[in-house]
Amino acid sequence: MRKAVIFDLDGTLTQSEEGIWASVKYAAEKLGFPEPDAPTLRKFIGPPLGYSFREYLGMDDATADKAVETYRERYNVVGLFENRVFPGVRRLMRTLKREGWYIGIATGKPQKTSERVVAHFGLDKFVDKLCGPTAGHQADKVALIQSALPADWDYQNDEAWMVGDRKFDVEGAIGAGVKSIGVGYGYGSEEELRTAGCTHYCATVEEMIDFLCPGVTPPEGAFLSMEGLDGSGKGTQIRLLTDALDRFGFELVLSREPGGCPISEKLRDIILDKNNAEMDDITEALLYAASRAQHVREVIRPAIKAGKVMFSDRFVDSSVAYQGGGRQLGVQKILDINAPAVDGTMPMATIYLDVDHETSLKRRAAATELDRLELAGDSFHARVEAGYRELIRRTPERFIVVDATRTPEEIGKEVAEKVLARLMEAE
Ligand code: TYD
Repeated sequence: MRKAVIFDLDGTLTQSEEGIWASVKYAAEKLGFPEPDAPTLRKFIGPPLGYSFREYLGMDDATADKAVETYRERYNVVGLFENRVFPGVRRLMRTLKREGWYIGIATGKPQKTSERVVAHFGLDKFVDKLCGPTAGHQADKVALIQSALPADWDYQNDEAWMVGDRKFDVEGAIGAGVKSIGVGYGYGSEEELRTAGCTHYCATVEEMIDFLCPGVTPPEGAFLSMEGLDGSGKGTQIRLLTDALDRFGFELVLSREPGGCPISEKLRDIILDKNNAEMDDITEALLYAASRAQHVREVIRPAIKAGKVMFSDRFVDSSVAYQGGGRQLGVQKILDINAPAVDGTMPMATIYLDVDHETSLKRRAAATELDRLELAGDSFHARVEAGYRELIRRTPERFIVVDATRTPEEIGKEVAEKVLARLMEAE
């Protein structure tokens, strides 16, 4: 028996209102109509556009046609990417694929546009067939679902589910002769889906994963870290990258070193305490490693195992650069100390925010209170920088080095593009 899932796109795989609403507003404004309010905008998701412009904004036929054209002018360029993959959807699709399911998409959004959205998010590799309306072909949902299945589908003996968030999806499934899952996180209500007769209802993506793949361990997630000198702008870049990954449906577990879990946070307080001026360099190095050992086992490994993207603000490279370089304990000694802590768990990619130590010092001087490490002399930071350069030289394939002297937006864009490319390649 073959198993297939046919997904609806908007409201089921992606949360697409941002681009749709912005483009509806754009069309209304250009044609001299008042800006639609939020309840009106909500109604635009689902029905054909021309219908909505006529029905909800009171346009006549000719104006509505013009509005659709104007809408597309914006939507086809930027609107379709003002969109997010629902959290968990990537994990669901990866898991289904690994378990041998056939995956199709049946959507009311034009085929070409849908293909661009799916490819933009790197979901195309999971999809066997995508069916949407094509030029001059206003296919209904029943026909779309049937053509999204393999041509030789055996409706009696094979198992097929249509997954959607609106009654149209459920009705389409019934018409096409397949079972349906109504999902409660999209644009329709539970009542709408149940009244339409969905075979099964899932309030969340998580419930759907449990329903379609019970007891299955998800494919492994990924491990990323970010590094840089104090003052390299890590805080801002972490926020920007978090948002970019979230948009793509990567489920992030964000953490930091030293720290990241209760025991390691206690060690962090000891390490960074300004009153611990007499702390020996080797004590410091061992405390960082101890904090890391706990973090790896309590946070990092479980996150990767659960299919999440583990993102650590600093990891072992910081020890090599700061204790190995800055404190002059040497690269090899730090690697040796950290070997049992890390125990083979290394990031698949490490983002290095590249600012030289002079720039970093200037930026730090603007900060109000410097901690014990930051108070160390500037030759210390010159050695830290040299430590990082040595690491990058040794394992260039792991590092994503970005010029961090530009504007936060420019840096963020490059970081997001490069990290997303690596993550999608590894899926
Ligand atoms: P933190 O306030 O988190 O600074 P940042 O925002 O720059 O990460 O303090 C962490 C400090 O600890 C930072 O100066 C770098 C240093 N550090 C090490 O010396 N070795 C290590 O292994 C780690 C993880 C951090």
